[in-house]
Amino acid sequence: MPLRVTNHEFKLLRDLIEDKCGITLNQDKTYLIENRLSALVEKTGVKSFGDLYLTLKTSSQNEGLMDLMVDAITTNETLWFRDQYPYEILINSLFPVLYKKISERKRSKINIWSAACSTGQEPYSIAIKALEYYRGKGDEASCYEQVNILGTDISHSAISQARRGRYDMAEMQRGLPQDYKNSYFKRVGNKWDVVDSIKRLVTFKEYNLKYLMNGTLGPFDIIFLRHVIIYFSDSFKEALFDKISRMLLPKGYMFLGIGETVQGYSNAFDTNANKRGIFYQLK
Ligand SMILES: C[S@@+](CC[C@H](N)C(=O)[O-])C[C@H]1O[C@@H](n2cnc3c(N)ncnc32)[C@H](O)[C@@H]1O
Repeated sequence: MPLRVTNHEFKLLRDLIEDKCGITLNQDKTYLIENRLSALVEKTGVKSFGDLYLTLKTSSQNEGLMDLMVDAITTNETLWFRDQYPYEILINSLFPVLYKKISERKRSKINIWSAACSTGQEPYSIAIKALEYYRGKGDEASCYEQVNILGTDISHSAISQARRGRYDMAEMQRGLPQDYKNSYFKRVGNKWDVVDSIKRLVTFKEYNLKYLMNGTLGPFDIIFLRHVIIYFSDSFKEALFDKISRMLLPKGYMFLGIGETVQGYSNAFDTNANKRGIFYQLK
């Protein structure tokens, strides 16, 4: 049975979590603190959530503990080619436009950012589609010269796994077609490693969207900001879209998750809704 959190402890931890990573927890999320942070209370050797808060707050040497708290509180749920439509839009609309710009010497690179990439399935899915697109053009070598994909996430453990590119059976079964499994993964015991021809296209970095600073990343042609703003407050969403809009190149593209929208938070984007799904383009 998990340890119980008092109202006071809940408020302290909720404010600390929002301050640290922008994730907002309503009062009905006490179970989340209890379920996800009980193990950390035990590991830290303290007796209550209040003591855990004080330990996190007072010791400057607690970066490691803070990382563990962020890891425990974030939801890293993800899958390969999630919702499919972003990848169809990449192949059918965005890669052709950007590839043409490169052949006309208006651009030299395609820079793509997966801004909350969890354990890496999203940026690797993008990389597979990019390589397929260039192979279809008979121009595989240019893919490695022209396409840069950056995957970032706040979670230390998620980024470590993403960088390693190793997945278990359950993860492999989530959205990955069999022919991609055969072509782009190498079996290692009961796990699968992403092959180097895909890994080379992607770099990973721990990055907290709460502390996004102009000029530190980008600019990008395409940003995937999927299934993450749902956890953020309205004011954080507004500030984040403002910064994201400055990190996109003119007429750059952005994908949000299903059920996520810029409406009410930003006027910087046009909504592009086609039969495949919705994506946004900088005005
Ligand atoms: C539900 S996953 C979505 C993963 C992927 N984008 C997808 O759509 O499948 C949400 C991710 O957002 C990350 N996250 C939450 N708050 C964040 C923040 N402040 N900065 C960066 N990443 C954050 C979590 O660690 C988690 O990996």
